[in-house]
Amino acid sequence: MTRPYGMLAELTYDCPLHCPYCSNPLRMGDYADELATAEWQRVIGEAQELGVLQLHLSGGEPLRRRDVVDLVRFGSRLGLYTNLITSAIGLSRRRAEQLREAGLDHVQLSIQAHEAAASDRIAGVPAFQRKVEAAHLVKELGWPLTVNVVLHRLNIDRITEIIALAEELGADRVELANTQYYGWALRNRAALLPSRAQTDRAEAVVRSARSRLAGRVEITYVLPDYYSRYPKPCMGGWGAHQLTVVPDGDVLPCPAAHVLPLPHPNVRTDALSRIWADSPMFQAFRGTGWMAEPCRSCPRREIDFGGCRCQAYLLTGDPARTDPVCVLSPDHGIVTEAVRAAGERVLTPRPHPRDT
Ligand code: SF4
Ligand code: FES
Repeated sequence: MTRPYGMLAELTYDCPLHCPYCSNPLRMGDYADELATAEWQRVIGEAQELGVLQLHLSGGEPLRRRDVVDLVRFGSRLGLYTNLITSAIGLSRRRAEQLREAGLDHVQLSIQAHEAAASDRIAGVPAFQRKVEAAHLVKELGWPLTVNVVLHRLNIDRITEIIALAEELGADRVELANTQYYGWALRNRAALLPSRAQTDRAEAVVRSARSRLAGRVEITYVLPDYYSRYPKPCMGGWGAHQLTVVPDGDVLPCPAAHVLPLPHPNVRTDALSRIWADSPMFQAFRGTGWMAEPCRSCPRREIDFGGCRCQAYLLTGDPARTDPVCVLSPDHGIVTEAVRAAGERVLTPRPHPRDT
């Protein structure tokens, strides 16, 4: 068994935005009993003892938590690399300076589109201008900046302009991630899934931007897995390198695993090291022993680990099946049908209500 090197701390699911591709749980009220500051500090300490090197503070919107500066300081003093994943709403100059002083190492800022009207329409609130200001502030205070843009049918055709915006904002890294269909995003899939022609054009733009910006801006492109031949190696393998702690203290191998029919281990009742090593949640899909055919005898089983367990469950009702994205999966027709249905008519995605 390997040790985790990254912990995603989802401090709260509270968030000012209403993105239609949100992958947070549908029933957010179930997570209202959030860990207190002292509990988070204990968890961060246990994570560091377990071998975690990177602490990603996320949500929802982590800046909604009053104690985010204290948690950054705590992680930083333990020697962890601290990364704030934010919409930038709530990143005032004062807060940013406090975070800087507390030792925050990196900021990842989400932007919804290349310009205000489109971005605010997707976010469901006027936020673009504040994001631009926050990006300038991040650079002024000397942080490395990653600009993250979730791609879908409504913005993927403007990928040239999105990359240009990130460049203008001084991004060191641009993460262009096609929507993953969990949570609210799955409900909106027919409206969000781009066509194959759109994704092909986007890939060509990314290729040429990569060579133009080589050495200056790193571009990460997360493929649209519905159009891939084989699935993504989700999380680099189940319970292999990463763990996620959600607002109420449940510990999961990935941010979407709360949907799976497995008991949720929780830091309020168990030590992080025991959860990582022994809990049924983390043991369930470790390695390759759990696999059935076609994965069991497939030469790619150590490359993609049978794909995404959450996607397998959401699409087939069985988390141990081959990810239906794989062309070898007996359930692949579910994906081809979704692609066909999405191409049939143009729909408007529903904004996340954030009160389900
Ligand atoms: Fe990956 Fe399984 Fe498909 Fe092989 S059959 S490519 S291991 S998902
Ligand atoms: Fe849970 Fe892929 S998102 S395993």
